Amino acid sequence: MGIGGNDWVLMKTARAPSNIAVIKYWGKRDEKLILPINSSISVTLDYLFATTTVAVSPSFTSNRLWLNGKEVSMESERYKNCLQQIRSRATDVVDEKTGLVVKKEAWKDLYVHVSSRNNFPTAAGLASSAAGFACLVYALAHLMGAKETYEGEFSAIARLGSGSACRSLYGGFVKWNMGKEDSGSDSIATQIVEKDHWKDLVIIIAVVSSRQKETSSTAGMQTSVKTSPLLHHRAKAIVPKRIEQMEEAILNRDFPAFSKLTCADSNQFHATCLDTSPPIFYMNDTSRRLIGLVEKWNAQEGTPQAAYTFDAGPNAVLFAPNNEVAKSLLQRILYLFPPAADADISKYVIGDQSIMEL
Ligand code: ADP
Ligand code: DP6
Ligand code: CO
Repeated sequence: MGIGGNDWVLMKTARAPSNIAVIKYWGKRDEKLILPINSSISVTLDYLFATTTVAVSPSFTSNRLWLNGKEVSMESERYKNCLQQIRSRATDVVDEKTGLVVKKEAWKDLYVHVSSRNNFPTAAGLASSAAGFACLVYALAHLMGAKETYEGEFSAIARLGSGSACRSLYGGFVKWNMGKEDSGSDSIATQIVEKDHWKDLVIIIAVVSSRQKETSSTAGMQTSVKTSPLLHHRAKAIVPKRIEQMEEAILNRDFPAFSKLTCADSNQFHATCLDTSPPIFYMNDTSRRLIGLVEKWNAQEGTPQAAYTFDAGPNAVLFAPNNEVAKSLLQRILYLFPPAADADISKYVIGDQSIMEL
């Protein structure tokens, strides 16, 4: 098939995971390029993911996006920037099934249609923007035959969609280096170690509320940068040391150190939200009860049994050092939040990553 007629559609589908920050990104030094005021570290959450299909056809007359089945505007700079960056790297593409050829020069005149779904709550503090933009960039690159010219280039492009998305291009434990360059070329994520490095670590995602948050991450951190003195102190005087300590804790599979740093950084991030004017409250009473549960247990045992962290939302990500401790953690959570009579408790099975609804 040639590229003469308007009767063809080329489609690609990709899947990308979410991630949870254990040293948080909160605040930009450049809004347009999404350059952060500090480096951050995350764990990739394989079980929470976005699935995105991108399609191109000469019959499309505008770029369109459907998110979880509902059409939303693709006019925001973030979508446009990601699309433009990938499009400028497009190559000749030959569709193996049909033999269709799309020449490099043709891409600039073609519009895309995008349909994406998250298998977890959107805009509720479980990093849907991370999974979503990582997936979009990856799917577009696949569709347009774009290749990285340096390692981390797609990570930098995903960052233009949402800061946390740059970390979702990699599995396991990931660091987003804040970088120094004004262009943002060195503000990219790299893998610290793959997931298998710390096989025993168990992650439990406790969905406290699926509701969309009132303050988006983008808006929240903008206000924090403008008004929170604590945020600037944190970025300069606290995070650089924590990044080093966290990398070491991960490399050594040192759960007590990992737990202390993770909980402390989550709490400090939420303290900066409270230090923002007007203050932002992402956690709710259920979130705080979960913190109480873990803190009390850790104090009783005299050494960390579990860790908690909350992004910009009320939902908890909990860590346990192994299956046995994770079972005990799960029992404690279920004691505090007994499942409803009709709850599907078969879901509450400990794998390396488990999801439960409270
Ligand atoms: P979250 O805590 O879920 O990351 P954010 O406020 O950071 O919340 O971002 C939510 C926004 O990210 C959504 O309003 C939407 O614009 C974008 N987003 C979420 N999921 C996707 C997706 N699968 N594809 C494209 N964009 C997405
Ligand atoms: C609390 O990456 O969602 O989850 O860059 O404006 O899209 P934008 O914000 P986003 O912010 C994430 C903030 C966080 C911490 C983190 O993921 O590091
Ligand atoms: Co987000």
